[in-house]
Amino acid sequence: MKIIMLGAPGAGKGTQAKKLAARYGIPHISTGDIFRMNIKNNTELGKKAKGYMDAGGLVPDELVVDLVVDRIKDQDCMKGFILDGFPRTIPQAEALDYALNNQNEKIDYAINIDISDEAIIERMSGRRACVGCGATYHIVNLPSKVEGVCDNCGEKLILRDDDKPETVKKRLEVYHEQTQSLIDYYNKKGLILNIDGTTGADVIFEEITKVLDE
Ligand code: AP5
Repeated sequence: MKIIMLGAPGAGKGTQAKKLAARYGIPHISTGDIFRMNIKNNTELGKKAKGYMDAGGLVPDELVVDLVVDRIKDQDCMKGFILDGFPRTIPQAEALDYALNNQNEKIDYAINIDISDEAIIERMSGRRACVGCGATYHIVNLPSKVEGVCDNCGEKLILRDDDKPETVKKRLEVYHEQTQSLIDYYNKKGLILNIDGTTGADVIFEEITKVLDE
């Protein structure tokens, strides 16, 4: 099963992608996590991506597309994959289609998690991310067992630099300008599954899997 997660920053794509990956035994590929790992390890890619991310903008297509196209050719993607945060522009979507066409494959579902900007700003200020493994929590909706400490690996939890309110506003602007049009792009292909993102994470997961299991 080949799945794309769509939705504004903070809509809950990562939360659902992790649960879906565990349920269907397919890899969760988050371009945001890949960039953050590269920033942490101070790689060339990380150095190039950091400025764009901290400013709430998009990393240029040429730094993202090959990375994802190569990743989905890996052995663990043979049964499928969940792309979280990619594609984010029409050229990225077209590049993905082209790469999949070449392998006689296609996307099965583009899951769009729908939620208002106001709800997102509220959510992001409460998100905490682990500096070690990247797991995410929410101080109210999904708290860690010990405040400020990751349940998985015991590392510190922080507010991501790009989760500060002014940067979230910029990310939302960029989303509406460059990414939202992908809903239309995949709708025209009959692949969109629209999900109300305002309910609890477990309810959303149930709604998604009901359709995917059909
Ligand atoms: P990325 O990491 O992909 O960020 P994003 O799309 O902005 O998404 P987030 O990770 O912020 O949110 P999410 O939707 O996964 O929500 P989550 O599940 O964590 O990208 C970061 C940056 O990298 C980009 O800004 C860009 O610069 C760059 N980048 C990445 N990919 C790129 C690409 N393809 N092209 C160019 N640049 C790229 O949930 C949010 C919070 O809400 C959490 O605290 C969670 O616990 C809570 N929550 C989740 N679901 C619920 C629920 N149902 N009810 C209540 N709370 C909930």
